[in-house]
Amino acid sequence: MIRDSGDFGVYVHIPFCRHRCDYCAFATFTDRDVVIPTYLDAVATEIARAVGAGMPMATSIFVGGGTPTRVPAEGLMRSLADVPRTDDCEFTVECNPDDVTPEMMRVFVENGVNRLSFGVQSMQDHVLKALGRTHDPANVVRAMTLARDAGVNDINLDIIYGVHGESIDDWRRTVTASLDLRPTHVSAYGLTVESGTPLADDPARHPDDDVQAEMYELADDLLTEAGMANYEVSNWAAPGHECRHNRVYWSQGDYRGFGSAAHSHGAGRRWWNVRTPERYIEAIDADRSAESAGETLDTDARRIEALQLSLRTTAGVPIEAFDVTDLEMLDGLLSVKDGRARLTRAGRLLANEVALRLK
Ligand SMILES: C[S@@+](CC[C@H](N)C(=O)[O-])C[C@H]1O[C@@H](n2cnc3c(N)ncnc32)[C@H](O)[C@@H]1O
Ligand code: SF4
Repeated sequence: MIRDSGDFGVYVHIPFCRHRCDYCAFATFTDRDVVIPTYLDAVATEIARAVGAGMPMATSIFVGGGTPTRVPAEGLMRSLADVPRTDDCEFTVECNPDDVTPEMMRVFVENGVNRLSFGVQSMQDHVLKALGRTHDPANVVRAMTLARDAGVNDINLDIIYGVHGESIDDWRRTVTASLDLRPTHVSAYGLTVESGTPLADDPARHPDDDVQAEMYELADDLLTEAGMANYEVSNWAAPGHECRHNRVYWSQGDYRGFGSAAHSHGAGRRWWNVRTPERYIEAIDADRSAESAGETLDTDARRIEALQLSLRTTAGVPIEAFDVTDLEMLDGLLSVKDGRARLTRAGRLLANEVALRLK
């Protein structure tokens, strides 16, 4: 099992970006930096209330966005200071490479940050431009050096494949240049067309499924050869560097999200906060909960969701989760060993379709 029993994750959402990437559907804003100081105060207040109500110690903290490096590092760290955490807590901050400075790294490390996740996306200039990104590959190299100089060695790189105008060779160069930076973890995502984004309205730039499948296999070959093992469909890690925080999500563990649009989960109930920073600040200032809505999954829905999540990881699922006839039909997509069914590489490419057969 991948469940790290007793793990408890804390997620903090920073909903500010300098620029809106036209493929992104995350809850983030480019026009309200003016509320950053009050937003960080509100996050600190929401955390203090949860601690007062007996929130468990965090075994992982993940600051994501949006762009956490868009806000002052000192202020960000101050807002998180009261999160109770275990001595071995994994503490990750998502960084846009062009924001990284030596001072920012120093402040992060002094406050316990021990893992960084860089939004690299591509190591090819023209692909970054096609994505509307503001950094260049040299920024990524510089950010990695600054992180290491500050003493952070656990580093994830996010990369995206299937961008309009990106050739297989471009992608190969992105993966090899990423590996040259010696990350401990790589997340490789196929560019997804999210509804409501400008990308969705421009079919000429939509990715081709077959090209994306070829790119996925190429990435898997290169990453595996470099000693990074695939442990979830889109994630590879050097031994011992799997992301503890993600494992909480994938094992249906408990986590608490702070900030606008942040999601939480505890004892079978899921809830999420209001989407905009203004409404979030307003709720916290008025001493109200920032919760927007929630749901409690019934036992069967929870069971199926657990199987779906586990299927995507190397843990796989018990063979009884499939009908015998489906197991036969999915031959080549699933491998069966020791009573468990796991996705093969071909199966990972069709993970959603295979998951539809879970019972
Ligand atoms: C929401 S972003 C936050 C981090 C940072 N702002 C950035 O963009 O690098 C987290 C990651 O989600 C991925 N992502 C966002 N939108 C995506 C999309 N439409 N398709 C695939 N990956 C996406 C990117 O790889 C990105 O690094
Ligand atoms: S992809 Fe990252 S930088 Fe771009 S808008 Fe989304 S959160 Fe902001």
